[in-house]
Amino acid sequence: MCGIIGYIGRRDAIPVLIKGLEHLEYRGYDSAGIACLNSSTSSNFFIAKEKGKLSELKSQLTKNLPHMHVGIGHTRWATHGEPSKLNAHPHLGEKGRIALVHNGIVENYAELKDELKRKGHHFKSKTDTEVAAHLIEYYYHGDLREAIRKAVRRMRGFFAFVVISRDEPNRLFACKRSNPLVIGVSAHEHFVASDISALLPYTKKVIYLEDDELVELQENTVTITQLGNGRRIQKKVSEVNWNVDQAQKGGFKHFMLKEIHEQPRVLAETLKKRIVDHDIEFDTLDSKIERSLANAKKVFIVSCGTAYHAGMVARYMFEEYVRIPTEVHVSSEFRYADPIIDKGDIVVLITQSGETADTLAALREAKQKGALTLAIVNVVGSTIAREADAVIYTHAGPEIGVASTKAYLAQLVTVALFVIKLGLLRKKISRSVLSKLIDAVEKLPYQLSEVLKQEPDIRRAARKFFRKKNFLYLGRGYNFPTALEGALKLKEITYAHAHGYAAGEMKHGPIALIDSEQLVVCLAPHSKTYEKMISNIEEIHARRGIIISIATSKDQTVSRLSRLVFWIPKTLELFSPILTVVPLQLFAYYVAILNSRDVDQPRNLAKSVTVE
Ligand code: AGP
Repeated sequence: MCGIIGYIGRRDAIPVLIKGLEHLEYRGYDSAGIACLNSSTSSNFFIAKEKGKLSELKSQLTKNLPHMHVGIGHTRWATHGEPSKLNAHPHLGEKGRIALVHNGIVENYAELKDELKRKGHHFKSKTDTEVAAHLIEYYYHGDLREAIRKAVRRMRGFFAFVVISRDEPNRLFACKRSNPLVIGVSAHEHFVASDISALLPYTKKVIYLEDDELVELQENTVTITQLGNGRRIQKKVSEVNWNVDQAQKGGFKHFMLKEIHEQPRVLAETLKKRIVDHDIEFDTLDSKIERSLANAKKVFIVSCGTAYHAGMVARYMFEEYVRIPTEVHVSSEFRYADPIIDKGDIVVLITQSGETADTLAALREAKQKGALTLAIVNVVGSTIAREADAVIYTHAGPEIGVASTKAYLAQLVTVALFVIKLGLLRKKISRSVLSKLIDAVEKLPYQLSEVLKQEPDIRRAARKFFRKKNFLYLGRGYNFPTALEGALKLKEITYAHAHGYAAGEMKHGPIALIDSEQLVVCLAPHSKTYEKMISNIEEIHARRGIIISIATSKDQTVSRLSRLVFWIPKTLELFSPILTVVPLQLFAYYVAILNSRDVDQPRNLAKSVTVE
């Protein structure tokens, strides 16, 4: 977590850093800070830091700002040391010769700190980052590159650093291990940032830095070397196809609302790209990889949070349509469980950011055990996308709201299409079934637009119930993960307690919660388990629970039993989670708004979880 940025060039560095941090703020918003230099003279750093959101820092930076050409910036998600101005980055070395911003954790910082203290260093903050700044400065004797190499050799953990020295104001350095860094290339200026969204206002030409690489940026040069042996590396410049408008609110009050409304377009574009002549194509998979994937004996799906819920839906799809035994795991459990993986098994990692620390560790574990790894990723060029044996991009565009919405939908539809492809390759799906599947999937963008038309009703429902502190979400089969996802959306942005449960498990405990005050959201679209779900709803109804249902249009039974119903058009069961989740996203959004929550930046959260 944390967003970091660096700039060197002819522009005024401060506005460039601030604009970049605006795009990185989703990664953390406990504090923000910048350190800048004038590249033509050796002088002290201009430093500004503030606790809280970037707006706090911006309000400080209003007048008489110096004109600087080199700078680094940071937006923080606190790990070591509480959110405070003192702990805010950038941090300086003992004599203030080095300034540094950091994303990650220096795990052996305590022992390094003790060692430096014994050598006479004084520390102002509680952060591991300040120790890194002191250590680099300790090794600094006029060559920043060498100092960074020596210091990093002493550090354990994972990091991305951007470093400048007041003694070498025309050079900016950055290096990484595990955490992401992208270099932005342009004429007479260079950038480095945690992700490409911060670079988009200036350039679409990027270089992805790999682990243990060190980059030196000057106004007109980019020099990349190995951190370990200092050997020069040539790297290709890639062109990104995201545009800066996709990372703006586009007239909506919040990114989350904008991203909810983008979903029909995301679906339509995914289908247009993947369905060609009544067949399914994945541009990033060659036929050899496709055959290996189709011949898998077992599938493991590994992911976190919302992406884990997409993985749960994917498991039902794999088992029904590809007939491969499939397990789904939370990344943080999978990586430490010593999973039994054989050669010929495939491990599918689902992730929006492509940077989630536990999912990345799970990928490395799976590769080490000999599995074929496939990443389903939104952020092009992210670490997981680059390290997996094969990648499929979800192409949802940049998702800025911390609560994942359109990326989830893109994951669901992409997995569905991938499953259909494998089902065909394994001859588990006939051409006639394929036709039915494609007809149904092609209706989804329009059907989703119809679901979104219920937004005023959903807002009214939120108005009725926004003061409630406990919500129960129930579903079965393909929509059990939807219940979990609906509950996650609600709790992460409203801070109310919400619990998702398999409806069949109700009688084994949660039914004790039901009384005339308990609100229960029931997912009851047409499905194999529809009648079982109706029985569950009857049981809640009999105990006078308040029922809000999501059901297939014109379902009189559900209507009779529920206080409110949000409708989805008729679709095949495997596609139903793509429609049923949307009213739940909107419901969470409006409950949060009515409780005056910060929807795009909920407390304690960050968009990409790049620490364990
Ligand atoms: C969902 O709203 C959350 N932002 C979170 O659960 C997220 O899905 C999870 O951290 C996984 O992130 P990833 O998809 O980038 O790996």
